[in-house]
Amino acid sequence: MCGIFGYTGKKEAQGLVLEGLKHLEYRGYDSSGIAVQNGFDHLAVRKTDGKIKRLEEILKAHPLKGTTAIGHTRWATHGTPSPQNAHPHLDHESQIAVVHNGIIENYFDLKKTLEEEGVRFRSETDTEVIVHLVSKYYKGNLENAVRAALRNLKGTYAVAVIASHEPGKIVAAKCDSPLVLGLGTNESYLASDVSAVLEHTRRVIFLENGDVVSLSGGKFQLTDLAGKPVSRKTNVIDWDVARARKGGFEHFMLKEIFEQPEILSAILKERASGSRIHFEELKISETKLKRIKRITIIACGTAYHAGLTAKYIFEEFTDIPVWVDTSSEFRYRDAKVGPDTLVVAISQSGETADTLAGLREAKKKKALTLSVCNVLGSSLAREAHGVIYTHAGPEIAVASTKAYTAQLTVLYLLAFYFAQIAASGPSKKLAGLLKEFIRVPHLMQNILDRYKRDEGQWRENAHDFNVRYHAQLEKYFNADPEKRKRSPNGFFLYLGRNINYPSALEGALKLKEISYIPAEGYAAGEMKHGPIALIDENPWVICIAPQSRTYDKMISNIQEIRARGGCIIPIVTEKDEAIRRLDPIYVIEIPPVSEIFSPLLVIVPLQLIAYSVAREFGEDIDQPRNLAKSVTVE
Ligand code: M6R
Repeated sequence: MCGIFGYTGKKEAQGLVLEGLKHLEYRGYDSSGIAVQNGFDHLAVRKTDGKIKRLEEILKAHPLKGTTAIGHTRWATHGTPSPQNAHPHLDHESQIAVVHNGIIENYFDLKKTLEEEGVRFRSETDTEVIVHLVSKYYKGNLENAVRAALRNLKGTYAVAVIASHEPGKIVAAKCDSPLVLGLGTNESYLASDVSAVLEHTRRVIFLENGDVVSLSGGKFQLTDLAGKPVSRKTNVIDWDVARARKGGFEHFMLKEIFEQPEILSAILKERASGSRIHFEELKISETKLKRIKRITIIACGTAYHAGLTAKYIFEEFTDIPVWVDTSSEFRYRDAKVGPDTLVVAISQSGETADTLAGLREAKKKKALTLSVCNVLGSSLAREAHGVIYTHAGPEIAVASTKAYTAQLTVLYLLAFYFAQIAASGPSKKLAGLLKEFIRVPHLMQNILDRYKRDEGQWRENAHDFNVRYHAQLEKYFNADPEKRKRSPNGFFLYLGRNINYPSALEGALKLKEISYIPAEGYAAGEMKHGPIALIDENPWVICIAPQSRTYDKMISNIQEIRARGGCIIPIVTEKDEAIRRLDPIYVIEIPPVSEIFSPLLVIVPLQLIAYSVAREFGEDIDQPRNLAKSVTVE
């Protein structure tokens, strides 16, 4: 949560920081601010509630000159989104400015002590204690003051600090919130996410917990909290910058949906050759993996749904039993994991606080740990015994799409890899599977091409839904109170079975988070145990029903819904006849594919449904309310 960007060098800093913050806006967007140092003895700050656009307008009207600056985009934790609570925060004399990402757990006690010492606080944030502590310890050396202040803190932070008396200098530090240093020529950058600096430099250093860095122009000094020098590896990032831009699409989400076939192809090309699968960077030997008796997967949100799907895949192709937990539950129950367990932590950002805590818990219990991450050098990637990168490129839209299918692809390959190890070599079955797998990106592309061809129809359907939805709401609110009590207003049900039960959960999550329409995902076989009571003409029921071993069962479930007046929108395999006879409102087709790979295809229309509805409703698709891209708080 929250994005930090900093620049020190010879160029005017305002524009660079503003652009950097725009790339980080997905991390939080309820308020933002910037502090610029303009020569000796002067710090100037502009901050506001609302999105970066508002900050940009303010800066256009009242620009700030200077070549060293720090900026922040906020996702509120302590205190409402307001100009007072927006970062940067200043000390009393307005000589020191701080931006922070994370949570200071002992801020209340620190605040009390500082207040007793005479400090008056201007905001409700936990962050403000940091700037007053730095000010308290400042004796002419910013690095020493920052280190002294940080030694008082409990919690998580990435901070950047500037002081009016130290022109051209930024001091920054990290503990459990991400911070990347971008190395330029005679200039340096700081950012919460590597994608924000790529336009300026490809040479980066991922700071580690406890690191404190002092930047001046192109020079930097790294120490630990005690002031002892430390050294860190410089990485050269070869990501395609264009991938982090909209590239002609209306929204990042749509662009990322369309990137999926290419990403999947690249993963398959990289990891599978002939009938063999390889994971070069895995860092865990085959011998160790052979000793694994069970797998526990931990993840949150969309990544959790990828984990749930992986359970079906692993249990079909290996003899290893698999448990799947949301990270926030795993960490607080006494999960039975030990040296014979592989704990797989899945995360796009690699910074999700609950998943990181779960991983640490698993390590404490001596489990072997493996992370499946997208963001290079993220905390999860560094802390697990092994890592597999999904290489989906930067995912900007808050609603995860391409990271999900990339996670699934890697998890399929991992399951096949386990099967390969167990069989001590390539098998015919595996070779056949890989042959089909390699075709999946083309099938995905086929669905996307149809969407492009029929986009007008998708828009019409979404509009039709909008009209019906509002007519329903009107009917509901105009109904006499007795009837109203009994009739729920419009919502969506997503039904799937077997390996597509998690797809139903993921489809519902996508719709909820970007259109704010209530939606539930269910295992279709569970309907009769309760949820079928909800069925009347009100819910729209998305039935995920491609050809599979449970296809006939799914038809029975759909018939039960139709018998109670429910409206169905099925996702079926091309040329399906049986479900068309059940009078659906619309039918969505996917190309024929083996059941095992069907989650990779059905998810595309599910993503497009959520996208089309949210676009029709005029919602802020890439930055839905109340959410942030990476959840670095508990
Ligand atoms: O970065 P992570 O994959 O660990 O994030 C986990 C969830 O916060 C994330 O998947 C979230 O549910 C997305 N907004 C879903 O679209």
